[in-house]
Amino acid sequence: MRVPIIAGNWKMHKLPEEAVALCRDLIPRLGKLDDREVVLCPPFTALPAVGEAIRGTKLSLGAQNVFYEISGAYTGEVAPPMLKALGVKYVIIGHSERRQYFGETDEMVNRKMQAALDHGLLPIVCVGETLEQREAGITESLVKSQIEQGFKGIAEGYAKEIVVAYEPVWAIGTGKTATAEEANRVIKVIRETLAGIYGNATAAAMRIQYGGSVKPGNMAELMGQPEIDGALVGGASLDAVSFARIVRYDD
Ligand code: PGA
Repeated sequence: MRVPIIAGNWKMHKLPEEAVALCRDLIPRLGKLDDREVVLCPPFTALPAVGEAIRGTKLSLGAQNVFYEISGAYTGEVAPPMLKALGVKYVIIGHSERRQYFGETDEMVNRKMQAALDHGLLPIVCVGETLEQREAGITESLVKSQIEQGFKGIAEGYAKEIVVAYEPVWAIGTGKTATAEEANRVIKVIRETLAGIYGNATAAAMRIQYGGSVKPGNMAELMGQPEIDGALVGGASLDAVSFARIVRYDD
């Protein structure tokens, strides 16, 4: 059984004290969390404060990006051991905003995955098509290629711990969601691609999230799909009430 994983991607929001206030508001609303995993991904500058605020809870800490070198003259970058030292467990890699605004390629995503895994961080690797690519009918081949390039050379021993997020770019922050069936269909293609690399048993154990305008009102339907194992939530994760409702979608 795959344990659902719901991650809040706070993007470039929240000063440390605001982040702590959000955690304080959120934690009592979440319930027991026995059968699901919840990850908070604040900006780098709020990682220590959020790490402290969630200490002793079942929540995990995640970062939104990482560099693939371990140290050196890379002004402005953050290395995997630096995140590890702050208690970070997960790291979002290859988010479409990184690909779109910061020129991240599949090759960089692959190097970041390897570096993160080698230093004990678990990637949440994002794939997904733009509207143009969807309209051109290349959604499936595109996500297949993003997965194949992203996972190139990544050892099978690591694969089960990696989370994939399928995020259609046109659904991010737009209020448009893929229908649950459509998201399920593309996620099935992703799982088949992973099965082609690691075999059926490993692919069946890997968690694949949906992301893109996830809200309390559409989460239960998404989670009702057999291939969808959780969500990567942007906007709605900045509001304690909304995010708690998303986490407790089956209450
Ligand atoms: P959204 O963002 O929920 O605001 O659409 C999702 C994401 O970018 O991970």
